[in-house]
Amino acid sequence: MKTIPYGHQSVSWRDAFRVAKAAKSDWMTMGPAVEKFEADLARLSGATHAVAVSSGSAALHCAYASIDLGPGDEIITSPLTFASTASTAINLGAKVVFADIQPDTGNIDPSHVEILITSKTKAVVAVDYAGHPADLDELLAITKKHRIVLIEDAAHSLGSTYRGRPVGSIADITTFSFFPTKNIATGEGGAVVTNDENFAQKARLFRSHGLVRNRGSLKYPNEGPWHQEIHSLGLNYRLPDLLASLGSSQLRRIASFKKRRRAIFSRYVEFLQGINGLQLPTERNYVESMWHLFPIRVPTEARKTVFEGLRNRGILVQVNYIPVYWHPYFEELGIKRGESPNSEAFYREEISLPMYTDLREAQQSRVAKELVALLSGAKK
Ligand SMILES: Cc1ncc(COP(=O)(O)O)c(C=O)c1O
Repeated sequence: MKTIPYGHQSVSWRDAFRVAKAAKSDWMTMGPAVEKFEADLARLSGATHAVAVSSGSAALHCAYASIDLGPGDEIITSPLTFASTASTAINLGAKVVFADIQPDTGNIDPSHVEILITSKTKAVVAVDYAGHPADLDELLAITKKHRIVLIEDAAHSLGSTYRGRPVGSIADITTFSFFPTKNIATGEGGAVVTNDENFAQKARLFRSHGLVRNRGSLKYPNEGPWHQEIHSLGLNYRLPDLLASLGSSQLRRIASFKKRRRAIFSRYVEFLQGINGLQLPTERNYVESMWHLFPIRVPTEARKTVFEGLRNRGILVQVNYIPVYWHPYFEELGIKRGESPNSEAFYREEISLPMYTDLREAQQSRVAKELVALLSGAKK
């Protein structure tokens, strides 16, 4: 029987045709398709500036560089995320402090954030777990009070809304990922969006080696028309036009992707609600989530059996996430297990069921049936 992945891109022939057209154009790396993709992203997310980059991790690295994060600085984030939310900050010399999560959403708990703020804190980084936006108004009230920056790692939540506002228009800086399982796919890809011109400009510089070309900003403007200068270091995080053309094409389909993901969410809830020992994700009433993941929680002692059982039946479930500070690298920084009990309890019980636009009803029914059978077996 065919395997069912936990996530998968949806690439139409029209998407593929647009990539082919870009491949035959004069630009292969960053050119007019990137400019268009950035304008499309800014429109969708309600931000003034968008900077397309080569991955969601690159976007986080650029966002941190844009606030001049460095040695002596701290960021506060959630441990229930992919490691690069933290590791890109450490790469710039900063320290990462972990705040615990709200058990219902898996998002950073604003009341815990407030306790952890010190004079060294430069940013709070909220991760919109599974696509459900974090409590952005509460977080903004805290970051404004302390004159620090709110960054939203929206790798899961492009297309979600919070109190009627699109993700990307709310935090000081928002980052996206376009990895194949994400809400839109470019293979590898990501973006930084912001309403702040200064942050956008610094992110752009970091994306392309820190190279300054604008004559007015040069230290030695009379060297010649070829002259360019590096004033601060950056990397090559450019997104090629080939991938940006796929990004723009995918963005045209995002409303239908959202409708489909939300329908799959409702159907899972219909199938699975009320089953003993099973906790389903919920949506707060001021949020409309894209539902990048469908994270269920099962009793800790049943998790391994259920996970292996589903995998053995060709249902390629995933666990999102091992708490970041459980990775040996972070452990060696001195962060002890037990520090964020809600995150650790969430991790011990979590399994991500298949959730993607092209998941068919018959496949979804198969997932639900196998899960229910495994859960009743695990109880015996
Ligand atoms: C929450 C979160 N942040 C950051 C990333 C990094 O994105 P990318 O894989 O595009 O580098 C991911 C992707 O796995 C993610 O899920």
